[in-house]
Amino acid sequence: MTEAPSPSWHEEIDARGILWLTFDRADATVNTLGSAVLEELEGIAGRLARQPPRGLVLRSGKASGFVLGADVKEFTTLRSVAEARALVQRGQRTLDALERLPCPTVALISGAALGGGLELALACRYRVALDDERLTLGLPEVLLGIHPGFGGTVRAVRTLGAPAALDLMLTGRNLRGKRTLDAGLVDRLCTTLTECEQAAREIIEHDPGARRPPWHLRLLSWAPLRPILRRQVTTAVARRVRPGHYPAPFAIIALWAAHGGKGAAAYAAEAESIAQLAATPTAHNLIRVFMLQDRLKAQGRGGTSVPGRVHVIGAGVMGADIAALCALRGLEVTLQDREQRFIDAALARLAEFFERRIRDPGKRAAARARRRGDRNGSGGSAADVLIEAIVEDADAKRALYAELETRMKPDAVLATNTSSIRLEELASALRMPQRLVGLHFFNPVSQMPLVEVIHTSTSSAEAIAAATALARKLDKLPLACRSSPGFLVNRVLLPYMQEAMYAAADGFSFDEIDAAATDYGMPVGPVELSDMVGLDVCRHVGGIVGVALGRALPDTAELDQRIAAGKLGRKSGEGFYRWEKGKALRGSDSRQPVPGVNRRPDARARADLEDRLLLALANECVAVLREGLVESADMIDAGMIFGAGYAPFRGGPLQAARQRGPAICEQRLRELAERYGPRFTPDAGWATVR
Ligand code: NAI
Repeated sequence: MTEAPSPSWHEEIDARGILWLTFDRADATVNTLGSAVLEELEGIAGRLARQPPRGLVLRSGKASGFVLGADVKEFTTLRSVAEARALVQRGQRTLDALERLPCPTVALISGAALGGGLELALACRYRVALDDERLTLGLPEVLLGIHPGFGGTVRAVRTLGAPAALDLMLTGRNLRGKRTLDAGLVDRLCTTLTECEQAAREIIEHDPGARRPPWHLRLLSWAPLRPILRRQVTTAVARRVRPGHYPAPFAIIALWAAHGGKGAAAYAAEAESIAQLAATPTAHNLIRVFMLQDRLKAQGRGGTSVPGRVHVIGAGVMGADIAALCALRGLEVTLQDREQRFIDAALARLAEFFERRIRDPGKRAAARARRRGDRNGSGGSAADVLIEAIVEDADAKRALYAELETRMKPDAVLATNTSSIRLEELASALRMPQRLVGLHFFNPVSQMPLVEVIHTSTSSAEAIAAATALARKLDKLPLACRSSPGFLVNRVLLPYMQEAMYAAADGFSFDEIDAAATDYGMPVGPVELSDMVGLDVCRHVGGIVGVALGRALPDTAELDQRIAAGKLGRKSGEGFYRWEKGKALRGSDSRQPVPGVNRRPDARARADLEDRLLLALANECVAVLREGLVESADMIDAGMIFGAGYAPFRGGPLQAARQRGPAICEQRLRELAERYGPRFTPDAGWATVR
């Protein structure tokens, strides 16, 4: 006999006849809207329509927030457009039934109301929210390649007006604090839950009528005026993404342009549109990336205590930013360097960082109090984790470790931020090599989500766990990787960036090379990326990793000349491109044509360019997979997306290869090897990419 599922909705009627309906999903720690939950709610709404209470307050029974959205997992089980349509139509029906109740309805929001969660709240006549730092409202579906599907594309426009509703849906951004009220998403903001409950009672008592945007905003949805706003938003979206890569934002605009956020046809069109979008590879891949991100986030949970004190050695570009992040996230941090002036400059950068990132003056002062300049390194003896970020020189690092080890706590972890030196080489200087791991942050530290957590065969499980927990504490996505030249991200980027240099030598302009990569969906092309990293850093790191992997560039004369001339990339104002205000100037490729060398590439060479870049990269991923450096193909994809910005809608290099067909990729590599050289020889691991 099967047991009836336990209910997720709990009803309680108070003395005034108000029904308090609490959503507490029975089978999960967070509230999401799956079909079973919607079915239950539809049943309740049907009953209430026949016997309406005085008013209805809908709230969450979870400490984790109101409702985090539709059930993403359920989305991945959909096998056809028809199934997707049926799922969203159920959601639409349920929320429609809620909206039609004859009594006043209030959503009492605490924490996050996102996606389907906000759609649920928008189907209530009123919204009251608890104003604390957890309050987050948004419609982030577009980030998953879809759009609101439970009537949200219609109700958002009706409640906020087209400009604000389109902005929320097209950017997927969240609103917090007072901005939720200013935007018109909520009717009342209260500072305690008791006040929220009181406000809900008052609103039900007076039932002043649902909020509507002012007339001039409503006018923008009037059919004759719609084309004006449509043109504006389409231009803005087209500047950021292409319809072929990301169709969802264009579908959102099309829905509004056709229906103005009104009428039964608008709901039907929404359901059809999302059902079509859900079947696209873009949505499939973006949802997969979202779940991979969750897997990375889930690491470092349980068991391991999070380190409380961190000592950073090397107050340069990386060390200063790592220390800043530690203090921002509540850790005590000391910052050591060989000269006081470097520490002073770094502390000034930390102060600027806190100024930008922390609005509350009290919290800003607290973050400042958590960091300390430490010229003679006394903090090293109290720290749980020591992060070494000194110059990329194995001898200097080893000398430092020998000295540090005399002071470190016996159970403290030593983490190096090296980007190219194998950890085995550095561990040889330690009496206790098991405490050495890598914490490879990317530049700029505050913006790059990934941190590679590097281990050797001697790294202890405790050291790896502590480094992983620290990365999570810093709100980074930790990716476990075995020590080897370049680890994952730099190793895989190397052949890609090298191929750009080969293509440049074949006569392609820098713009053409970068356009091939951005047409594919990369955020920047390999030439621009080299300028951003710094040509000196590329040369140094690429040199070490390239030699270790047998992938040294045959001719670096041009690169060396640029470096010798001080053309280091973005940081010096010129590298391969000239840079102005942090932007590479297109067409600023200053190379002179060399007779006989800079021949114009023919049509076949042009047709090969994208594959030369992206298959070189994929082939290296296959090598990493075969060597078992990273746990799985999924984790390699996640690493390349969060560490290098690899086109998320393609799902990662290995997912893209799978979707194209591994046999086709291998065949193309063989052709490229024939035309351009043995560096394209397919890796032996392609057979395992299925
Ligand atoms: P940097 O040159 O900006 O800073 C290094 C700092 O270490 C300098 O302030 C220097 O005075 C100090 N230092 C050198 N030897 C020292 C010693 N024995 N004791 C105390 N302080 C010492 O270098 P950056 O760029 O911050 O790189 C640091 C490490 O991070 C390197 O291992 C590098 O490979 C790695 N890394 C760098 C990235 C980048 O984009 N800059 C990205 C990822 C890793």
